[in-house]
Amino acid sequence: MEDYKIPKHVGIILDGNGRWAKERGLKRSEGHKEGFETLKTISKYIFKKGVKVLSVFAFSTENFKRSNEEVDYLMNLFIKGFKSSIKEFNDNNIKVVFSGRKEPLKDKVYEAMEELSYKTKDNTGGILNICLNYGGRAEIVDTTKKLVNAVLNGLINVEDINEELFEENLYNNLPPMDLLIRTSGEVRISNFMLYQAAYAEMYFPKSYFPDFKEEEFDKALDVYNKRDRRFGGINEKK
Ligand code: IPE
Ligand code: IPE
Ligand code: MG
Repeated sequence: MEDYKIPKHVGIILDGNGRWAKERGLKRSEGHKEGFETLKTISKYIFKKGVKVLSVFAFSTENFKRSNEEVDYLMNLFIKGFKSSIKEFNDNNIKVVFSGRKEPLKDKVYEAMEELSYKTKDNTGGILNICLNYGGRAEIVDTTKKLVNAVLNGLINVEDINEELFEENLYNNLPPMDLLIRTSGEVRISNFMLYQAAYAEMYFPKSYFPDFKEEEFDKALDVYNKRDRRFGGINEKK
């Protein structure tokens, strides 16, 4: 199709790993393991489709409320998973960046994040933004502090602060989100990229994240293409 639109920035709230495992009589951790594999497969596919930025919600600041066992499992999965996928991301020319707070992540987790982002920093085939220990409100607060400090240090004037400057000073300087997908049928944002998603089209497929395969993303693109994005204006063509 000639004018088939490909969103520039896609966000995915990776949800339903636990329910996916439960339905199969498996431990929640098995769902997380499978979810990580799906993340690698689907991100490669999404970039091949022409998407430039993919932001995924992997662990929220609120997810520390879960049992120690589950949090430890996830942190170890991140350590092992990031280390073992450096080559795969490089082979696919994917640059990985992270969004989130450092505290209270253990050094080993943070080091694995740093290593993955450093070793993929020159790749040009798409940016995978992994939101880990991330909260949308926390990001807005942290950005505000950064700008206040810049004012106090005489680097900028209060009058310089506008929406563009704010966007540039978020954890990563990314374009606005065009399409936000949340798997597992839940219909809420759960504190994901509040600033970036202001005008995102939203799509809530029923499938659990481990089942979110290529065809599921194609469906999301079809839905996106049927949407009429107006950004507060009027679409003269309609
Ligand atoms: C998403 O799956 C992964 C994380 C939040 C880390 P869940 O673990 O939230 O799975 P459900 O929602 O319990 O099924
Ligand atoms: C949101 O999922 C966070 C991530 C996907 C990392 P949750 O499963 O934690 O969200 P709630 O608790 O259902 O809102
Ligand atoms: Mg969940």
